[in-house]
Amino acid sequence: MDDMRQRVVGLAADAEMSDDPFGWFEQIYTEADGDWSQVPWADQRANPLFSDWLELNFPKPPHAAAKALVIGCGLGDDAVYLETSGWKVCAFDISQTAIEWAEKIHPGSMVEWRLANLLEPPVEWFSSFDLVVEIHTLQAMAQASRQDAAKVLPKFLRPGGHLVCIGRLSNPDVEVIGPPWPLAKNWIMALGRVFELQEFCESRRQDDEPDTLRFRAVWKR
Ligand SMILES: C[S@@+](CC[C@H](N)C(=O)[O-])C[C@H]1O[C@@H](n2cnc3c(N)ncnc32)[C@H](O)[C@@H]1O
Repeated sequence: MDDMRQRVVGLAADAEMSDDPFGWFEQIYTEADGDWSQVPWADQRANPLFSDWLELNFPKPPHAAAKALVIGCGLGDDAVYLETSGWKVCAFDISQTAIEWAEKIHPGSMVEWRLANLLEPPVEWFSSFDLVVEIHTLQAMAQASRQDAAKVLPKFLRPGGHLVCIGRLSNPDVEVIGPPWPLAKNWIMALGRVFELQEFCESRRQDDEPDTLRFRAVWKR
């Protein structure tokens, strides 16, 4: 395990036993002190599994009132990508430093950056979005919080809207010390069970460890 991963695993383990299970995210962002290379998941581009899906399914900008919500937006690359594709975007994170940092590095952006906890979202967000995007946030949450988060995610969608979840897929033969905690396929499938499943795809990335498998799951309400 490299130093950065070891640090993340240690911070998350301490946080899990504390009364602030999400506090370690803020710690990562503040200690990075503006250097994105010190944020293990920051890669200064939209997630390719997400941009591929959007380009294929929304080659043209959506209708003028269409709104997207980006969950656990981090430094905002997916949110800004969505905005440039014609969406009105609200993006939130539990880390104040992440939100301030995202605003600072995307100065011309009209994205509405919000500080919020996925487990206690503003009620006005319920049934309000045509696209809800979750990338690598559920897999970064310890099991207890992840279970609660899974119940909240579908509530943001308007009828006809899409929920897109992207992350690592678990392999029962490989033991993993997280975060990230790869997710089991049946657990992922249950996320959108009240909706129509549009896609579940698995993929590998060239720069990953050989046993890392990724998924993209999409539902329509
Ligand atoms: C692994 S990072 C992924 C960030 C971004 N989605 C990406 O793909 O680069 C997980 C993000 O979720 C945020 N997060 C974790 N728990 C959260 C919660 N309960 N509510 C909102 N955001 C949360 C973290 O602060 C962090 O920015």
